[in-house]
Amino acid sequence: MAYNLLKGKRGIIFGALDSNSIAWKVAEHAHAEGATFVLTNAPVALRMGEINKLAEKTGSTLIGADATIDADLENLFKQAVEVLGGKIDFVLHSIGMSPNVRKGKPYTDINYDFYHKTLDISAMSLHRTLQAAYKLDAIAEWGSVVSLTYIAGQRTFPDYGDMAEAKAMLESIARSFGYHYGIKNKVRVNTISQSPTKTTAGTGVGGFDAFFDYADQISPLGNASAEDCANYCVMLFSDLTRMVTMQNLYHDGGFSSTGISNAVIEKFGGK
Ligand SMILES: NC(=O)c1ccc[n+]([C@@H]2O[C@H](COP(=O)([O-])OP(=O)(O)OC[C@H]3O[C@@H](n4cnc5c(N)ncnc54)[C@H](O)[C@@H]3O)[C@@H](O)[C@H]2O)c1
Repeated sequence: MAYNLLKGKRGIIFGALDSNSIAWKVAEHAHAEGATFVLTNAPVALRMGEINKLAEKTGSTLIGADATIDADLENLFKQAVEVLGGKIDFVLHSIGMSPNVRKGKPYTDINYDFYHKTLDISAMSLHRTLQAAYKLDAIAEWGSVVSLTYIAGQRTFPDYGDMAEAKAMLESIARSFGYHYGIKNKVRVNTISQSPTKTTAGTGVGGFDAFFDYADQISPLGNASAEDCANYCVMLFSDLTRMVTMQNLYHDGGFSSTGISNAVIEKFGGK
């Protein structure tokens, strides 16, 4: 059901790789709510070609940008403002990748060149994105920037590896930049801490199926799906949340506030 919550709003959506991507669902929902937007991803992801289908379906322009390259981001904002016909009202930063996790390097035998890449791609890219927009004055007053994170920024999940530091840093950047962009232009910056979700990035983490099921059993509402996450993003892009900024918002069916559930007690033989 659509409410026209984003009617007339212009956006940039990073990170739709395939139809499982959280960003893919956000694009579909934002389109249904009346937004127009540019889709962007790294050149290697564009070559996969899946994103063309989404662009067609949502009537969006595709602009390639590697989120670790400042010149790409500058070009992206300049072009997006031109294509969409005005300043940007919302940005979804839905980017994450760890070469250490991808190559199965354990946390105690980490490759530091990879570690730099993890932090650059998964955290610093949010700062780069915000700084590019800030310098170009490309985001409209009361604009909204949302990035996706995971509770491994606060608690340890052994196979999440160096992505844990990336998420802690990402959340800190949202707070710090949220201050400066709030003062400058009333732009709000928040992170959504999402349940485990079956996507390319998600399932790349070792033991994913087990911790997906565990989280589902712990959370009173069960795991939040990518569709649910898309609804939450739409709400944060909308004018209904104008005074929400610098927050890490849990979207996890209650996981982060639950110690243990009866379902898990029963699994361990308790009653
Ligand atoms: N899937 C989960 O369980 C889960 C849970 C919580 C948070 N998240 C976060 O959600 C976000 C989106 O991930 P997803 O689960 O939809 O997986 P996904 O693999 O579909 O999306 C990750 C995206 O990052 C993009 N990317 C990687 N390097 C890039 C670069 N240099 N420049 C631009 N884009 C680049 C990829 O091309 C891809 O589109 C990530 O930040 C992820 O950590 C995922």
